[in-house]
Amino acid sequence: MIKKIGVLTSGGDAPGMNAAVRAVTRAAIRKGMQVYGIRRGYNGLINGDVFEMNERSVSDIIQRGGTMLYTARCPEFRTEEGVEKARAKCEELGLEGIVVIGGDGSFRGARDLTLHGIPCVAMPGTIDNDIVCSDYTIGFDTAVNICIDLIDKLRDTCNSHNRCSVVQIMGKNAGWVTLEAGIAAGATSIIVPEVEFDFQRDIVDRIARGKRYGKNHFIVLVSEGLFFDVPSNKNYKYCVDNGIANIADFAKRVEKETGVESREAILGHVQRGGAPSAKDRVIATEMGNYCVNLLKNGISNRVVVMKETDIIDLDILEALKMEKPFDFKKYEMANMINI
Ligand code: F6P
Repeated sequence: MIKKIGVLTSGGDAPGMNAAVRAVTRAAIRKGMQVYGIRRGYNGLINGDVFEMNERSVSDIIQRGGTMLYTARCPEFRTEEGVEKARAKCEELGLEGIVVIGGDGSFRGARDLTLHGIPCVAMPGTIDNDIVCSDYTIGFDTAVNICIDLIDKLRDTCNSHNRCSVVQIMGKNAGWVTLEAGIAAGATSIIVPEVEFDFQRDIVDRIARGKRYGKNHFIVLVSEGLFFDVPSNKNYKYCVDNGIANIADFAKRVEKETGVESREAILGHVQRGGAPSAKDRVIATEMGNYCVNLLKNGISNRVVVMKETDIIDLDILEALKMEKPFDFKKYEMANMINI
């Protein structure tokens, strides 16, 4: 029976990671295991930067953004030698199982470590909601709420000046945050990497229609992924062909084509900070507890994910091969309702 486990957070931080660490720690202790916090993701595992945790180590963190374990991306862990070093360190420290909280890169790390003989389970923590095997990732709800709060503020000043705010939203290569924030904030245009857009139809005509309805200010949301040179970005070529390298270029083009004075804004890392929402705290707690139950029952090489409203576990290898199509229906609905 597993007696000693480690927990780490890896990749970009996400609000709710602390709630997950807290749940893993408390659940494991209650079930008679020792728990070690591993600092800075897989780096901490390679370097043995770990500390024993007790129930009080995770007090007063459920409401905090960020991660008390710190986080990092670890290029060394992508190498065979790196994974081997981590395995050896786990053996030296007596860690018999690891709970990994992070994005899909972190999941691949968990798979590699499991294949090297250290039982791992992983759970999804990223604001991007881009993990293919899970309908939900911890941090997404909070990030969307931060976005709409900031967009509402931009709307006030836009309204006063009869302007258009062209807002860049984080989300890596995925447009999930942009779509959800666009619906919740009532953006005139929602531009994401997954859907090929047409500047005239999706921006110029929509703003013109809004004007006809008497609208005097506009919000155009643009995913940061629009400017990334990756195959899944359906709009990269358009941006390059039209000299749009960044959000400032995009805003200039909006102003030129629509005649509406425009200003760009980049929400950036502020999207990842602050107190997690109730939803993120609750799901993080449930998933953290679920991970511990798996390890406790001798089950590893699993990812704990959300399918619709259920929390389930999947084989890591299978999970990494899954696909998560963009919600085109929701996107169309947003375009129908928003003006
Ligand atoms: O994956 C989370 C995320 O915030 C993405 O939305 C963004 O593209 C990236 O991380 C930013 O990374 P960094 O924190 O290294 O700037």
